[in-house]
Amino acid sequence: MKRRDVMKAGALLAASAWAPVAVAAQSRDHSARIKALIDQMTLAEKLGQMTQIPGGRQKSLNSKLDAAMLDRVRKGEMGSFLHVAGAEPLRELQRVAVEESRLKIPLLFAMDVIHGYRTILPVPLALAASWDPAVAEAAARLAAEEAWAAGLHWTFTPMVDVARDPRWGRVVEGAGEDPYLGARMAEAQVKGFQGADLAKGQRLMACAKHFVGYGAAIGGRDYDSADVSDRTLNEVYLPPFHAAARAGAASFMTAFNDLGGVPMTANAALVRGTLRDNWGYQGLIVSDWNAIKELINHGVAETPAQAAALALRAGVDMDMASGTYSEHLGAAVAVDAGLLPLVDQAVGRILAAKARLGLFDDPFGFGDPAHEKAPLNRPVARDLARRSIVLLRNEGGLLPLKPGAKVGLIGALADDASSTLGSWRARGQIEDGVTLRAALGDTVEYQPGVKPRGSDGSGIPAAIDAAKRADVVLLAIGEDYDFTGEARSYAEIGLAGLQIALVEALKATGKPIVAILMGGRPLALEKALTGIPAVLQTWLLGVESGPAIAEILTGKASPGGRLPIGMPRVTGQSPIPYAHLPTGRPANPDLSVDSARYRDMDIGPLFAFGHGLGYSEVKYGELSLSAAEIPVTGTLTATISITNTGKVAVEEVVQLYANDPVASVSRPDRELRGFVRVTLKPGETRKVSFTLSAAQFGIWQPGKWVVEKGEIKLMAGASSTDIRSEAGFRITGTAAGDMPATSIATRVRVA
Ligand code: GLC
Repeated sequence: MKRRDVMKAGALLAASAWAPVAVAAQSRDHSARIKALIDQMTLAEKLGQMTQIPGGRQKSLNSKLDAAMLDRVRKGEMGSFLHVAGAEPLRELQRVAVEESRLKIPLLFAMDVIHGYRTILPVPLALAASWDPAVAEAAARLAAEEAWAAGLHWTFTPMVDVARDPRWGRVVEGAGEDPYLGARMAEAQVKGFQGADLAKGQRLMACAKHFVGYGAAIGGRDYDSADVSDRTLNEVYLPPFHAAARAGAASFMTAFNDLGGVPMTANAALVRGTLRDNWGYQGLIVSDWNAIKELINHGVAETPAQAAALALRAGVDMDMASGTYSEHLGAAVAVDAGLLPLVDQAVGRILAAKARLGLFDDPFGFGDPAHEKAPLNRPVARDLARRSIVLLRNEGGLLPLKPGAKVGLIGALADDASSTLGSWRARGQIEDGVTLRAALGDTVEYQPGVKPRGSDGSGIPAAIDAAKRADVVLLAIGEDYDFTGEARSYAEIGLAGLQIALVEALKATGKPIVAILMGGRPLALEKALTGIPAVLQTWLLGVESGPAIAEILTGKASPGGRLPIGMPRVTGQSPIPYAHLPTGRPANPDLSVDSARYRDMDIGPLFAFGHGLGYSEVKYGELSLSAAEIPVTGTLTATISITNTGKVAVEEVVQLYANDPVASVSRPDRELRGFVRVTLKPGETRKVSFTLSAAQFGIWQPGKWVVEKGEIKLMAGASSTDIRSEAGFRITGTAAGDMPATSIATRVRVA
C-alpha cells in the first residue's frame, strides 16, 4: 500500500509522528545544475557516476591511485572512490576531477569509518551497551571530525542490522538484538556523522546498512539466506532503517543476502517499493562490495548485463567495486531503452548527494592537513569505553578491587593491543592501543596463560603459580578482534583454544577470579563461568581499553553498561531473543510439564538483554500512569522513581517494556519501548517519565501498521528479566498508520 494511500485511508494515528523520510532537498540552483549536467552527459559518463572504485584496500589505502586511474577520472569514468584517505592526496585527486575532466563533476571519497578514524573507539556493539545514544553520537562526531580532516566525504555506517544470533560475526558492528534500541542508536550515529548541515562543517555522509535482513542470516552464517515473515521483517528488521532515514541518513547500502530468495541488491519490492515509494526516501543507494555481479551467483541473472539491469530496476544507484554498471549497463540499455530514465534517476540522486555535501559549492571543502595530524582524543575515547563496560556478576562484592590486594592478571588478551582496535580500524595504529596490562602496569603480576587461539598450553603452569601468589585473579578471556566482523561466523561460540583448560586450572587454585570478557560477540559461557564470582563484559574498547577497564576494576568509575543482546548459556541456544512469543505452551521450569524449552538447559539466556549491575543497589518505586485509557491518537506518560541505596554513585539504565496481552495476533511477552541512563549520587532519588504515543504499540498487518483497541501492560525495570513494577492501561480505539512502532522515540524526562 503506497504511503499516500495509507494516509488517505484515514490514518488516525498521531500524524505528527509521521514525517516523510525524504532527505533534505538540495537548494534550487543545484537541482537546475544537476539537470543541466545530466542533459550534457554521455551514457559512459552517466555510468561512470554510478561507479565506485576501490582506490586501495583497507590495509593499503590509495595504493591503486596510479596514472591509469587518474586518466579514468579525467574521462569521467567514475563517481566515487573507497579505501582512500589523506587530505593532500584526495585534494589532488579531486583537483583532477574538477579541473581536468569534461564536466568537472566532483568525486565522492568513502571509507568504513565505523568506530573511529585515527582515535579508535569502542566497537559499535560496545557503544550500544552504553544504552546512551549520546555515547553513540559522540563517537560518530569524533570519527567524522577526524575523517573529514583526512578529506573523506562518506562513511559506510551506521550498520543498523538487528542481530539476534551471536554466531554471526557482524553482530559486533551493530546495536544488538532489539529494534527500539537499534533505532535510537541509528539516529544518534546519523546525527553524529552528518552534523546539523551536511553542506558545512566537519561532517561525513552517513550510510545506513545493510538493507535489509542481513542479520537474520540462517544459522548466523554471514552472507547466507534470510527468510523471515512479513511481520518480523516489518517489526524487527526494518524499523532501525526507517529511523535512520527519518534522521536524514543521506545514503543507504543494500545487503549481500537474499530475503526469501530475492537478493536485496535486486529487491525492487523493498528497495524501490518500501524504501523509496512508501517511505519517500530520496538519498543515494549504493550496493555492497561486488554485490551486483554476485547476482549471478545468486542465480537470478545469467549475464553481467542482466545483473546490472536487475540492480538498476531495484533502485541501486551506485555499484561498489564490481564494475558491472560501467562495463555492462550500456549493453542492457541497448537492449532495453526503458532503462535510460532509471539511469538518469540514479545519476540525479548521486549528484544530489554531492550537492547536499556542498561539493558543487566547494569541492575542496574537506580535508585539513594540520588537523589530520592532531593528537588522538584519548579523553573522549576513555569516557566512551568506560560507559560501554557491563558488570554481569559481582558475588560477594568482589569488585571494585580492595586497595592493596595482590592481583594476578592472567590471559594474553590483556596484552593484545591489536584487538583493542576491533576489525574496522580505519587509520588506527596498533601502538595506539593501551591494553589492560599496560594500564595496570607493575601493580599486578601478569602472565599470558594462553592465547584465544591455538593449542599452546605451556603458559598455564606459570599462570597457576601467579594465581597462587595473588589475593585475586583478573582473568582476561574471550576472543581477539579477528573472531568477529565480516565473514567471521562461528558454529561454536564457547571459549576457543585452550582457554577452558586455563579457566579450570585457575578455578582449582581456589583463588577468587574476576573474569574479564573481551571480544566482539556475546559468548556461550555458562560452564566456563560457573564458580567465578565476578564477570565484566568489556568487548573491544578502542585505544583506551586498558585505562577504562582499570577504572571500573578499581572503583574509580562505576559500571553502567547493559547488554544490547542476551548471552546464551551454550551455543545451541542461539538465537535466543528476549522478545519472543508466549506460544501455546510457554516455557515452564517444571520439566514434567511439556513446554517450549530445552530439556537439557535452564530456560532463557545466561545473562539477559538489558542486564548489567552497578556498585550500588538501586530501588525502584511504583510505576504510575497518567491515564487509565487513551484514544488511538493519544499519548500516555509512565513515571517511576529510582533511589541509589548505596554508598557510591551509580549509573542506572531504567528500562520500559510493553506487552499486548490479547491482540489479533500473538505478541511478544515484552518489547522495549523506552530507556534512559541516569546517574544517581549515594542516597539520591530521581523521577523518570516516559511519554509514549498509541502508535508505539502498533502491530504490523499486511501493508500497514494497526493500533488495536485493548489493554497494554507496561513494565519498568533494570533489565528485560528484572521487572520492578508494572501497570496497565487501555487504548480505546483502532486505527491504521504507516509508522513503524519502534521507529518512534519515546520522550523521556528525568527530574
Ligand atoms: C564490505 C561490507 C560493507 C562495507 C563494504 C566496503 O564487504 O559488507 O559493510 O561497508 O564492503 O568496505
